[in-house]
Amino acid sequence: MTSFDPSRQAARPAVYLETYGCQMNAADSQLVMGILRRAGYQRVEQPEQADVILLNTCAIREHAEERVLGRLSDLARLRSRRPELKLGLLGCMAQHKRQALLKKAPHLDLVAGPDTYCRLPQMLRQASFDPIVDVQLNRDETYAGVVPEYEHAVRAYVTVMRGCDEFCAFCVVPYVRGRERGVLPGAVVDEVRALARREVREVVLLGQTVNAYRHDAVDFGELLRMVCAVDGIERVRFTSPHPRFMSASIIEVMAAEPKVQPYLHLPVQSGSDRVLQAMARGYRVDEYRALVDRLRTALPELALSTDIIVGFHGEDEGDFEETLALMREVSFDSAFIFKYSRREHTKAYKLGDTVSEAEKAGRLCAAIALQEAISLARNQRLIGRQFSVLTEGAARRGNRMLSGKTPQFKTAVFPATHGVGPGDTVLVRVESATSHSLGAALAQTRAGPPHAPPREVSRADVSGV
Ligand code: SAH
Ligand code: SF4
Ligand code: F3S
Repeated sequence: MTSFDPSRQAARPAVYLETYGCQMNAADSQLVMGILRRAGYQRVEQPEQADVILLNTCAIREHAEERVLGRLSDLARLRSRRPELKLGLLGCMAQHKRQALLKKAPHLDLVAGPDTYCRLPQMLRQASFDPIVDVQLNRDETYAGVVPEYEHAVRAYVTVMRGCDEFCAFCVVPYVRGRERGVLPGAVVDEVRALARREVREVVLLGQTVNAYRHDAVDFGELLRMVCAVDGIERVRFTSPHPRFMSASIIEVMAAEPKVQPYLHLPVQSGSDRVLQAMARGYRVDEYRALVDRLRTALPELALSTDIIVGFHGEDEGDFEETLALMREVSFDSAFIFKYSRREHTKAYKLGDTVSEAEKAGRLCAAIALQEAISLARNQRLIGRQFSVLTEGAARRGNRMLSGKTPQFKTAVFPATHGVGPGDTVLVRVESATSHSLGAALAQTRAGPPHAPPREVSRADVSGV
């Protein structure tokens, strides 16, 4: 543990920022750091070193909020030892709980929603006196002109759309992130160019319904083309597309642009029409099935992942069986499966819970077990095949192993080799498989001189996202 150093007081104020939730929140944290650095703050890696502690939070499920409240009570201990320390909550949970947070967490100096970050320096100054709550949503805020503080990584995430207009019955996002708005296409391309100059090789375009992107005449397919035209960027991905907006023209661009990688995270949520309708998802199971067929015909190498909610209001055993049947039929490469969590403000909140916690837990286990088996079988079928892998850095399991992603976004782990480091694309042959990763051997290197001196590969090289 690092102790408090009084000599630091003359230096720039130190901010410690912790991020929860989705990639959009991670990208927002980079914006927040960009804004605070311009205002004279420096980032520190330990809360004990900080003058300001910020948590950028998520509200998607109750568990996410409970975790943050637990963390806050730990951090409040630091604050009681050092009253001048400021403690702030940013992001979706701040927007969701607002003023009520000050009651639950009386140590908070600041509660700031996702559209208020340009005012953070000013708010932090004012918070010296009284707690500040700013949860103004702003349908025009896209943080144009803010330079994010990028991490040093091979892959970068670029927010192209903020907010959501879908109002799925279970989901809090439209309430905490506000109305949908696209970032100017020119600003997206400028950011991608800046990333290419920093030797980023892969960009992931972000939005809650990213494929519904539109800014004047530029739709998502056109935006993808513009991003693919940036020199130096080798791979382009996007997340999350909504099944309702996965148009023929976007599929065409995916098939035509070699930089767009053959992987889609396409949340289905349920395999029952009755439940999908109650969720207000705007498609039927048959339509989802037909979309998967179209995608797989146009993109034969495509990998697919999905999100599934079990135990939504009204879901009975029959509905759940239909979800399992759809999982078997589509054979997703992977799936994120969640127990339904009632969220205040949403349309489904008033309906209440009809599935007990024990039933939800049972369905969750069954769905996870099925998906593990499907993922394993799909990955095992890849043994013997070759894939190009964009190297990210040292593999988690260490032992002089490197890891990176295949075009299908599967993690491949292979022995470290002279001259191969983060950012290099290599050809590997798959030798073994688990449900979560592929063990591989180098088939051939495509980048880096053949006899270059060994490159130091450390955990710090691994992408932090
Ligand atoms: N915009 C994306 C989803 C973003 S939220 C889309 O529509 O595809 C990520 C996932 O969290 C959702 O796909 C859903 O599966 C899950 N989720 C959202 N609200 C939830 C809730 N109230 N309870 C449980 N899971 C939820
Ligand atoms: Fe939530 Fe639906 Fe919007 Fe996704 S599309 S963020 S699930 S409201
Ligand atoms: Fe993301 Fe959670 Fe907000 S999933 S948009 S951080 S509610």
